[in-house]
Amino acid sequence: MPSAAISRYFDETENRRIREDLVFAVDNVAAPRVAIDCGCGAGADIHYLAANGFTVHGFDVEEESIQRCKRRFRGIENVKLSRSSFTQYKFPKASLVIADASFFFCPKKEFPDVWTKVYECLHRGGVFSGSFLGPEDTMAGSEYNREDFWPDVAIYTEEEVQKLFVKYEVLRFNEHRLSGTAPGGEPHDWHIYSVVAKKI
Ligand SMILES: C[S@@+](CC[C@H](N)C(=O)[O-])C[C@H]1O[C@@H](n2cnc3c(N)ncnc32)[C@H](O)[C@@H]1O
Repeated sequence: MPSAAISRYFDETENRRIREDLVFAVDNVAAPRVAIDCGCGAGADIHYLAANGFTVHGFDVEEESIQRCKRRFRGIENVKLSRSSFTQYKFPKASLVIADASFFFCPKKEFPDVWTKVYECLHRGGVFSGSFLGPEDTMAGSEYNREDFWPDVAIYTEEEVQKLFVKYEVLRFNEHRLSGTAPGGEPHDWHIYSVVAKKI
């Protein structure tokens, strides 16, 4: 069963604005337009990609995410949904892989295999767009209650993120620090690295 906090998060992000990085990534993708959304949540990015001519493979570990997306994209043939964890997912070939705020929750010891699969599924010239959680985010702190959302929070230093992209051409690398209110109303300090990179 998802927690009430997860359901509320999906309600609040279903129609969130599309991040500038995704628009930029799409502008840099060559044909064929095939995307994978890792940890697709309520489907905001799937909606954007499908409307921009992509076949989108969306997966998420939460049954609620997949059920919501199945209702949302019913009858849309270029959206393919599966319930899966990052580690279990069989990545199809793609020209774009996105992971927005979702690799935050991939256990660090499992991530190297997942990251290899991301690299291998991308066509040469294919694009990755995603984000990684920095050490000064509220979620990295000892007072953050990990049980409300997904408990395996993975923290990366800037150097660790940069090392992930040695086999890519980095098109954009940004560090974001922001204080505000998270979906659900709690105060939050964000510390996030966002990356758009092209497989060489
Ligand atoms: C913060 S939400 C982001 C959702 C979506 N990418 C967005 O930006 O709106 C994190 C997503 O990762 C999913 N997730 C968490 N752990 C996962 C895992 N081990 N495998 C696959 N998805 C996972 C969650 O269910 C959730 O939908």
